Amino acid sequence: MSKPDSDYVRIFDTTLRDGEQSPGATLTSAEKLEVARALARLGVDVIEAGFPAASPDDLQAVQRIAEEVGHTPRPDGTPPIICGLARATRGDIEKAWQAVEPAQRPRIHTFLATSEIHMKHKLRMDPEQVVERVVEMVGYARSLCDDVEFSPEDAGRSDPQFLYVVLAEAIKAGATTLNIPDTVGYTTPEEFGALIAGIVENVPGIEDVVISVHCHDDLGLATANTLAGVRAGARQVEVTVNGIGERAGNTSLEEVVMALHTRRPVFGLRTGVDTTQITRLSKLVSNYTGIVVPPNKAIVGANAFAHEAGIHQDGMLKHQTTYEIMRPETVGLNQSRLVLGKHSGRHAFSVRLEELGYRLQGDHLQRAFARFKALADKKKVISDADLEALIADELYQPPEVFALEGLQVACGTMGMPTATVRLRDPKGRQHVRAAVGTGPVDAAYKAVDQVIQVPNRLLEFSVHAVTEGIDAQGEVTVRIQEQRPGTADNGHAPKDPPRTFGGYGADTDIIVASVKAYLAALNKLLVARDGQAAAHVGAQTADVERA
Ligand code: KIV
Ligand code: ZN
Repeated sequence: MSKPDSDYVRIFDTTLRDGEQSPGATLTSAEKLEVARALARLGVDVIEAGFPAASPDDLQAVQRIAEEVGHTPRPDGTPPIICGLARATRGDIEKAWQAVEPAQRPRIHTFLATSEIHMKHKLRMDPEQVVERVVEMVGYARSLCDDVEFSPEDAGRSDPQFLYVVLAEAIKAGATTLNIPDTVGYTTPEEFGALIAGIVENVPGIEDVVISVHCHDDLGLATANTLAGVRAGARQVEVTVNGIGERAGNTSLEEVVMALHTRRPVFGLRTGVDTTQITRLSKLVSNYTGIVVPPNKAIVGANAFAHEAGIHQDGMLKHQTTYEIMRPETVGLNQSRLVLGKHSGRHAFSVRLEELGYRLQGDHLQRAFARFKALADKKKVISDADLEALIADELYQPPEVFALEGLQVACGTMGMPTATVRLRDPKGRQHVRAAVGTGPVDAAYKAVDQVIQVPNRLLEFSVHAVTEGIDAQGEVTVRIQEQRPGTADNGHAPKDPPRTFGGYGADTDIIVASVKAYLAALNKLLVARDGQAAAHVGAQTADVERA
């Protein structure tokens, strides 16, 4: 594999693997594919598409991404590398290879822990056995695939001298990228930078491979540690969109990319990312995972470019650089302009979508266009943000076990908020239910619960307006947690903890958007719990009103 210029930092995105390990971030295969397409548009170098040995569904999702996105040219003309994770076992490596092989540029990423804590308590292996296994499994992966990444898990807490030995052996066995994970987010930037510098200095053959860094944010230091690693010689960074991931998350893609971009004179490094796609991708991932971006989140938070204090506003009016180190346009914000209206035709509509980076065809395009016309009837001014919300809702494909066919609410100060919902189950039967609640959303959710009857807890509910103005579309994101009977509360982590599911919906009516989001999350829960086929017959037949 050819090595890029020494000032080029490869962006390795693991949103679909480590990111998907965040509580509640479970994505469907269709959602994963859509995120992978958006990552290719953004221009990331490597997409870690999943952990194929985790389940047949995971394997299939990675395979679909390899088949399609693994052949989609990025802005530089080459497709992204598609990578699959594997533990250091033959079975895992074979599954990873099966999944990524269809890509033009496949990669196998295998890992084994090297810290004393992990070797002793988790692996129950001594250091010699670990070295032996690394040599065997990296060699095996290399016999299948020309591009092999090896990670010594918990490198941040590993003995550096032992790490040098393991890494040197991995290189000899055929690894082409060595990734150094701070698995538990323990190190400080000084320590992590020194760890990478030590590797550059002490590992024979290191000049022939790419050094990668992979940091977690348990102490809020992931971005700082990643940048320290890059300054010490790493040329690949492992990141996730919005920083989602295990526990406190991974290093966030947008923070590292924009730090390298904004402070280029300091770092002297570049990436292949089209930064104007960042906001769009952040929203897509937030919608699909149901994980809301905090307003004060760097780069992609709602307040990241808002100036509230009078002194700041005064300064901004005099000169934008007084309080702004990046232009919002650089990350794809505030680019909305009036694009289409009620009289725009299908051609103008699809051309504008292509300009925004969406290539819709067939049924999708038909439906999206019909929705656009309906929206234009309600809302005279259609901005890019409106189009994006419409497309996000159209492309959003949670499994449709139950579909929303109708919703009627009555609310206000004069009576009890009441909602009636009509849902269609996969056999085409309609279920109509009404309920009273503390407000219209509560009433509508109670009516849905009467039909679907899946015990769950609403963990998060958030609404935001897509554009300004009274006629703005509303986007709703929810997260629900399944409730299982008899979960022991004995102080131990449950063996099989309850899962969390996200849902998203957009509409000019926020109660409709709220019900769409709730239904999407419930449908994902049903499929995860019962499997697609079983969920299809899960409806309560007693309340069928019309067949
Ligand atoms: O955090 C970690 O150590 C990982 C490895 C699998 C790279 O995610
Ligand atoms: Zn990780």
